[in-house]
Amino acid sequence: MRVRAARLSKRYGETEALSEVGLELSGDVAVLVLIGPSGGGKSTLLRILGGLETPDTGEVEIGGEKVDFGSDAALLAHRRHNGFLFQSFNLFPHLTALENITLPLEKVHGFTPDQAVETARGSLDRFGLDAHSDKLPAQLSGGQQQRVAIARAVAHRPALLFLDEPTSALDPEMTGEVLDLIAELKAEGQEIVLSTHEMGFAREVADEIAFLAAGEVAEHGPPSHIFEGSGDARLTRFLSRVMRY
Ligand SMILES: Nc1ncnc2c1ncn2[C@@H]1O[C@H](COP(=O)(O)OP(=O)(O)O)[C@@H](O)[C@H]1O
Ligand SMILES: [Mg+2]
Repeated sequence: MRVRAARLSKRYGETEALSEVGLELSGDVAVLVLIGPSGGGKSTLLRILGGLETPDTGEVEIGGEKVDFGSDAALLAHRRHNGFLFQSFNLFPHLTALENITLPLEKVHGFTPDQAVETARGSLDRFGLDAHSDKLPAQLSGGQQQRVAIARAVAHRPALLFLDEPTSALDPEMTGEVLDLIAELKAEGQEIVLSTHEMGFAREVADEIAFLAAGEVAEHGPPSHIFEGSGDARLTRFLSRVMRY
């Protein structure tokens, strides 16, 4: 992914969520993983890159094009190019798996009802979820729900897929099935920005890792660099805490 962010800052009242964050990724990076302590700014950065949030200052370029945060229309267009998945509560509880996918295809992406159903079925098939298409979220396990939510997030073939702690509400077995699916997406060429506390997975899937602490990218580099125990004291402390057992 060609992504460049420069001097990104974002404040919520007294809290400085991001402070002069810079990031430069070349086409060699297919998966960017954001790690770091809770409150460090991962979600804020991910949401700004995806166009869900506007920074107070700074700029973002994706694929060589500057994101125009000043224009609602431009921002909406940018957002439509992307796919999103959050920690939990991704699906509408009163809609079936299939309807959860067709709804945004029609309302956000302008598909006709027929196109939406065909595309949604294709996306469920692609991830082996076709048997669940008529079930409500409550009839699915947490892992199946997140996989349906991923099938929805990629149904319109987004340029970039943003996953914000997609497994943190799941038990270990379900975490595994969701992580497998994410690895599969990478293998198929999907570019992904992911925040996670699963360090083993981060190490395996990331081409580049950014460690965010107190609103700053305190360290970044390929997994080998991040996990070699080099450099930043906050990173060393964070890793020793999350990888202790
Ligand atoms: N919508 C919001 N309103 C107020 N404070 C927020 C909001 N979003 C994030 N913050 C604050 O900004 C900081 C960074 O949050 P966040 O980006 O969610 O970090 P992370 O995802 O790494 O846990 C935290 O202190 C958080 O409480
Ligand atoms: Mg977060």
